[in-house]
Amino acid sequence: MSAVNKGRPHFASRIGFIFAAAGSAVGLGNIWGFPTQVANHGGGAFIIIYLLVMILLAVPALYAELSIGFIARANPVEALRDACRKHPTQKPLFGSVLGFVSLTAAIFMLGFYSILAGWMLAHSLGSVFSAIGWEKGVEFVTQNTVQRNLSFCLLVTSLTAGIIFAGVKRGIEAWSKRLMPLLLLLLGSLIIYVLFLPGAQQGLALFLRPDFDAFLQPKLYLAAMGQAFFSLSVGVGGMMIYGSYLRRDENLGRLTMTVAGLDTLVAFMAGLLIIPALFAAQSIGETIMSNGELIGRSQLIFDVLPRLFDSLGWFGNVVGFIFFTLLSIASITSTISSTEVPVSYLIESKKQSRNAAVLLVSITVLALSTLIVFNFELLFRAIIALLTHYTLPLMGLMYFVVIGWIRPWPSDLNNEGIFKTLLRLHIKYICPILMLCVFVSVM
Ligand code: PFF
Repeated sequence: MSAVNKGRPHFASRIGFIFAAAGSAVGLGNIWGFPTQVANHGGGAFIIIYLLVMILLAVPALYAELSIGFIARANPVEALRDACRKHPTQKPLFGSVLGFVSLTAAIFMLGFYSILAGWMLAHSLGSVFSAIGWEKGVEFVTQNTVQRNLSFCLLVTSLTAGIIFAGVKRGIEAWSKRLMPLLLLLLGSLIIYVLFLPGAQQGLALFLRPDFDAFLQPKLYLAAMGQAFFSLSVGVGGMMIYGSYLRRDENLGRLTMTVAGLDTLVAFMAGLLIIPALFAAQSIGETIMSNGELIGRSQLIFDVLPRLFDSLGWFGNVVGFIFFTLLSIASITSTISSTEVPVSYLIESKKQSRNAAVLLVSITVLALSTLIVFNFELLFRAIIALLTHYTLPLMGLMYFVVIGWIRPWPSDLNNEGIFKTLLRLHIKYICPILMLCVFVSVM
């Protein structure tokens, strides 16, 4: 066990962990990414492959990531170093490298995710301004300008920092327990409302009907894999740090399934909301498809859907506010976990106070987001693609290698009998082989 784990913070309750980890998992990837990927990759075909990839790869990767933190009870750099030190030929350097890659990925992920989260907050405020008839305010928050992007990035980073300053129990856990039920309530109410709009049923059909030709395209498998890993927040150490804050007597297998189940449920619910809403927009004359694919993703959320809300009259402001608040909550609960990765490293390994660590990480993230905002065309999409298609799944692969090949299978994980043996073989052999197949197939 690592030397840094005495007197560490921990989650006060199991449900607190579940909401925090599900909060990290449920984000823009579920509510925005999943439905658009489904629509673009063969409807139900994508859902089937996504569920398969989830069960065969992403859930085991989540389990591997959580368990590395759970066993070491330390931040990702220490935890991975510790796991690799257990190997007879001693590979702590490999572990440290993996830890720093996770940490760097967490910061890059925050760099672009804070910009996206800022857009959501801005549009949520836009609905309030529109409801009170403040046109200048609406213009500022809804136009894609450098000033708007930077100020809302600052707002997102400050909100995240405010929660993390308060620590694991009073900050992360307490806020996740407030925000996640609210998110489910908002999502549920919106689905019920949207499904009754004219045109919505056509969207429902596209969402659920599989296009069998899509199964033959290797791109579908890479997209499903990237989406599944991103959705479960695997690969940047956020789940590892949450696993390290769990009490010793928790059943990790069951918790992994609960978190993955909630995440998949929300993604599916989001599909029931977004695609029918887009088709409702189409029925009032909006263009949503071109060449059989949905038009640009940001256009759909920030132009098409707001025009649908406008068509509902003043009440549309309420629907718009609920919609963008839902997306804002989803993104903030996700930025929390990736911020805790470098923060916990600075506290435990560099002996910084929590306040100093949060400040340093927030400034670094803001600097990176600013760089991205000023070089938007060059960096924004490139960073997202690099992280979601390659870095996250590759880190998931590394977690399989660590748990399957480097660290002796831990005796203190609460899975006994046949299930434990099968999982061990699955993580050791099947997962790495399957992942390599997906990567090779798209080369
Ligand atoms: N799971 C989040 C989403 O679906 O939007 C994205 C994410 C959050 C990835 C936090 C990684 C992370 F550490």
